[in-house]
Amino acid sequence: MTELLTFPSDFLWGAATAAYQIEGAWNEDGKGESIWDRFSHTPGKIRDGDTGDVACDHYHRYREDVALMSQLGLKAYRFSISWPRVIPNGWGAINPAGFDFYDRLVDELLAANIQPFVTLYHWDLPQALQDRGGWGNRDMCGYFADYAALMARRLGDRVRHWATFNEPMGIAFAGHHSGEHAPGLRNEKLAVQVAHHLLVAHGMAVQAMRGIDARLNAGIVIDAWPIDCMTDTEEDRAFAEMMWQTHPAWFFGPLFRACYPPVALQMYGDKAPDVRPGDMALVSQRLDFLGINTYSRLVVQNGQVIKPVPGSEYTEMDWEIHAPAMRRMLVRIMRDYAPPPIYITENGAAFADEVSPDGCVHDPRRIAYLQDHFTQARLAMNDGVELRGYFVWSLLDNFEWSNGYSKRFGLMHVNYATQQRTLKDSAKWYAQVIARNGWEDRCDTVTLTTTRANT
Ligand code: FCB
Repeated sequence: MTELLTFPSDFLWGAATAAYQIEGAWNEDGKGESIWDRFSHTPGKIRDGDTGDVACDHYHRYREDVALMSQLGLKAYRFSISWPRVIPNGWGAINPAGFDFYDRLVDELLAANIQPFVTLYHWDLPQALQDRGGWGNRDMCGYFADYAALMARRLGDRVRHWATFNEPMGIAFAGHHSGEHAPGLRNEKLAVQVAHHLLVAHGMAVQAMRGIDARLNAGIVIDAWPIDCMTDTEEDRAFAEMMWQTHPAWFFGPLFRACYPPVALQMYGDKAPDVRPGDMALVSQRLDFLGINTYSRLVVQNGQVIKPVPGSEYTEMDWEIHAPAMRRMLVRIMRDYAPPPIYITENGAAFADEVSPDGCVHDPRRIAYLQDHFTQARLAMNDGVELRGYFVWSLLDNFEWSNGYSKRFGLMHVNYATQQRTLKDSAKWYAQVIARNGWEDRCDTVTLTTTRANT
């Protein structure tokens, strides 16, 4: 027996991308260099020596891409602005051609009845600002707030939803501790200070944007993966909790409780950040929405992350597929922080997709992944989580950071030699989900009224 699993009529189904991962045109029409341009041009940093120089050539093909979004029936599209495209040095002179590009993109989206969700910073800092110390320099907060205000002034009449940062944890730690991402530094104390500066910059940017238009919806996108214990021992539970407190809660705490989690502060010891009077009030001001990026979970045992978890399935990123943990995490975030309405701003999976001789891309595992996660999201809503929308990562295959083009997350396949886009089966399936605002599901897998996250 099946029943139609439905979502609220105003639920925003969308897809997400980021400027550096899709735009290309890295040095065209007056764009400045970003830290990702510099990093990807440095030998040995990116798999196969790939760069985002051309990527999906979206800068030139955005009209075609919006037409494809329209074909899918997307209600919203999350993209980021390349800061050095609009302000080549990050401060000072602006680049009119860069602004024009985003103007045209927004107009194209609105004409197709697709709501633009803008992220101001998805990792491509102007290199000129890195040369002034990058996020380790507190002055960046002011530069960022000025940039946010400029964008709000330029696009705020048409863009209602603005996220300041994408994944501050990744920016701070992958960029400044593990060095896997630009600017490729390896200094934990610096990374913790960078995380603090990002939070302060977020607060200042929200204020600056509200100064331009008090009705704008301001938010931030946090990367949060649930953490489960392999066995239910006190030690494992304590370790899992420590990981939660030092990672996602390190950001949720300041944003929603105006303080860093005490156990995490203690753990960082002399690496704890320099916090100035007034910072926490700035960081914790009211937000209109919270974006959550989530893909997998971590499972711990005996003080370590276990991989592989016996019996589990993994994606091409080597990320475990386990949708129920997402529901539990959303419920926890709701209970611990009473956040504003939530959007899943990224969720999806990489698989080794190929165009078949029949011209199609058959990706049943992505359909299964998305269906499982949508189901858990719906269950979380039933638990009381105020989830307003869901952005699949990603609209199209793209430059996956240090993995180059080797990981395909798209609903659309991209042939990088010809730039041809092909709708994968998952895209066609997603279009049906959007059109029906749900899908037929077996009653035994979805018992919306009885199942609870913590039972
Ligand atoms: C997230 C990033 C996004 C993409 C996905 C796979 O951490 O925000 O740009 O790379 O992972």
